[in-house]
Amino acid sequence: MRVIIDTDPGIDDVVTLALAAKSPELDLAAVITTYGNSTLENCTRNARIVLELAGRPDIPVSPGSDRPLSRPLITAPETHGTSGVGYAQVPPAEPVTPQPEVLLELLSQQSAPVILITLGPLTNLARAVLRDAKLVKSKIRRHLGMFGNLRERGNTNRWADFNAWADPEAADTVLKAGLPTTMVGLDATRRFTLSRTEVERLARSQDPLVSWLAEALRFYVEFHRRQERLDGCVVNDVLTVGELLSPGLLRTKRVLLEVDLDEGEHRGHTKERDGGSPVDVAIDVDVPRMKTLLRRVFADL
Ligand code: BDR
Ligand code: CA
Repeated sequence: MRVIIDTDPGIDDVVTLALAAKSPELDLAAVITTYGNSTLENCTRNARIVLELAGRPDIPVSPGSDRPLSRPLITAPETHGTSGVGYAQVPPAEPVTPQPEVLLELLSQQSAPVILITLGPLTNLARAVLRDAKLVKSKIRRHLGMFGNLRERGNTNRWADFNAWADPEAADTVLKAGLPTTMVGLDATRRFTLSRTEVERLARSQDPLVSWLAEALRFYVEFHRRQERLDGCVVNDVLTVGELLSPGLLRTKRVLLEVDLDEGEHRGHTKERDGGSPVDVAIDVDVPRMKTLLRRVFADL
C-alpha cells in the first residue's frame, strides 16, 4: 500500500506517524506537513524527529502550507504545547520555506494511484484540488482524513473539530471535489483513548521512541483533564492508519455532507444535508483491535 501522510504534528499525529513507520504493510512514500496544532516550522521538525526515532529517517518530510486558504493562522498550544509535542524534548525548529503546491508535485510523480491520509487542516489537499482537480482525482485512490464530526460534540467550539474549524474553506473544497474520502471524525475517534495509567506505564519504557512519545502524551493527558475531566487522552489521528492496517476497524455510513463556512459558532461544523457531498463517515471503532495495532509502537500497552 503506497501511502502519503499529510500531517500537523501534534501529539496524536506523532503517535500515528510512529505506527505508520512501524508497519511494514505500508510503503510510506512521503510525509508532508502543514500548520495546525503548531506552526509549520514546529510541525515539520516534529515529523522528522519522530520518524528518526522510529528508525525511518529515510522517509522524506516536506513542508506544505503555513496558513489556511483565507482565514488567519491560529494554532493550538494549549492542546499540544508550544512545540506541538507537549513535554517531549525537541531542538529549536529550523526555518522552512512553505511549499503550498507540494502535494500536487508529489502526486504528479506517482506512477500509480496512492492512498492519502490527512491528519491536519485540509489546506494542502484543497490547494492541490484548486490547482488540478483532475490530476488529484486520478492519483488518489483513497483518502482517509481525520476531520469533522456528525453527532459528537466539537472539540474547538461546540460544533466543530479542530481540523475542519482551522480551514473550513479547505474542507469544503475537498468535500466538493468528489474524492473517495472517508471522514474519520470525532464520532469514532473520541471512543479511542489512552488512560493516564497507561501513559505513566509507557513513560517508564527503555525504548527512546516510546519514552519520547510518553512525554508528549503526558502533556495531552493534562490537557484532557483540564478541558473535560477525562483521566486519559483521545488519540484521534491514529484511527486512519488503523483502518488501513486492519480494514473494517471502523464502522462507516454513507452521508451527504456539507461544512459550515460561518464566521461564528458553527464555523467548521460538518453536517448532514440534502445536496451535500456523498462521503463515508466513521461512526464507530473496534477499540481492542486498535489497541492491538498500537502495540507495534507501544509493546507494553
Ligand atoms: C484533530 O485536531 C488536532 O488537535 C488533532 O491532532 C486531530 O488531528 C482533532 O480534532
Ligand atoms: Ca492532527
